[in-house]
Order: sequence, then structure tokens, then C-alpha cells
Amino acid sequence: MSAPAAATVTPIRLPDAEATRRAGATLAGLVHGGDAIALVGDLGAGKTTFVAGLVAALGGGSAASPTFSLVNEYPGGRWIVWHVDLYRIERAAELVELGLDDVIGDRRGICVVEWADKFAVLPPDHLRLELAHAPDGDTRILVATGAEARGTELASALTAELLQPSR
Ligand SMILES: Nc1ncnc2c1ncn2[C@@H]1O[C@H](COP(=O)(O)OP(=O)(O)OP(=O)(O)O)[C@@H](O)[C@H]1O
Ligand SMILES: [Mg+2]
Repeated sequence: MSAPAAATVTPIRLPDAEATRRAGATLAGLVHGGDAIALVGDLGAGKTTFVAGLVAALGGGSAASPTFSLVNEYPGGRWIVWHVDLYRIERAAELVELGLDDVIGDRRGICVVEWADKFAVLPPDHLRLELAHAPDGDTRILVATGAEARGTELASALTAELLQPSR
């Protein structure tokens, strides 16, 4: 019996900040209400830049880092975007105060969480986006993965779109 085919994960090079924004804009065409997205990566990896591209493409205006307000809500677009940053969260109890439970899975919008690997706040079918500084210069590498039907679907659709030669 042959082993099940492993999903191939293709890293995507983002040569500059504009490419990171465009990757976020590309995801805007794939998401729908109730989706959850984890953004993982070092300080300055490009997480907020990606979200800014996503929010702008959905018509929600210009997104900034929610490091101080912790949850930014961008209504007025195709979907509401709840943009969360867990960087300053130290204890799981603080997550309750954030009101995360109210927005995760709310079908009126999508929930995007920076530093999502600090606490397991997202449902298992979320899209996981890992951004990293490329070892060979001031560019970034994006890896999209996901579990369960929705996470897998979003990861492969985003990867396929970003790999198109016309981009
Ligand atoms: N692909 C890229 N190549 C080069 N620079 C980039 C790229 N993407 C984003 N940047 C730049 O990296 C810097 C940090 O970006 P950003 O604030 O989005 O990172 P972050 O991951 O949200 O950081 P933090 O961990 O502080 O929240 C910005 O100056 C941004 O313009
Ligand atoms: Mg940020």
C-alpha cells in the first residue's frame, strides 16, 4: 500500500514590501466570512504589511499595527476584518479581555491574528501564514499551510495564485 501523498508546501519569495502587500491583496480574493488566519514570524517579518494589503483590497481602509490597541476592527469592506496582535499578551487570561471569542468564527468577517503561535486561539481549520526574513538579503519568504478542509483549501489556493508567472 502506498503512503498518502504529502501536500507540497512551496515557499514564496516576496522581494519587497509591496510584494507583501500584494500577497495580502491576493488573499482578499479568496477569503470569506468566518475564516481565521494566523500570521507567524519574527519581529519585522512583514505581518502587518500583509494585513494592510488584505484590508485595503477588501475595502476596509488602511490598517496599522494593533500592538497597542490589540484588536483593530476594519468595517466597511467586503468583510469586516478583525486584526489582532498577541505580541504583548503574557497570560491566557488576558485573551478573555480581548474579546477574541466574540469575533473568531463570526461570519460577518475574518479574523487575522499576528503572533498567533503564542496562544492556540484559532480554530483548527485556520490558514497559517509564516513570514521569515530571507537569509540572503532584505526580502521575505512566505509559507502558507493549513489543516482541515478550509485551511488546506486556502493555503493551496493562495500558494497557487502567488506562484502564477504573471505576478
Ligand atoms: N517582502 C519584504 N521585503 C522587504 N521588506 C519588507 C517586506 N515586507 C515587509 N517589509 C518591511 O518590513 C518592515 C516590518 O514590516 P511589518 O511591520 O509588517 O512587520 P511585522 O511582522 O508586523 O512586525 P512586528 O513583529 O513588529 O509586528 C516594514 O518596514 C516593511 O515595509
Ligand atoms: Mg506587526
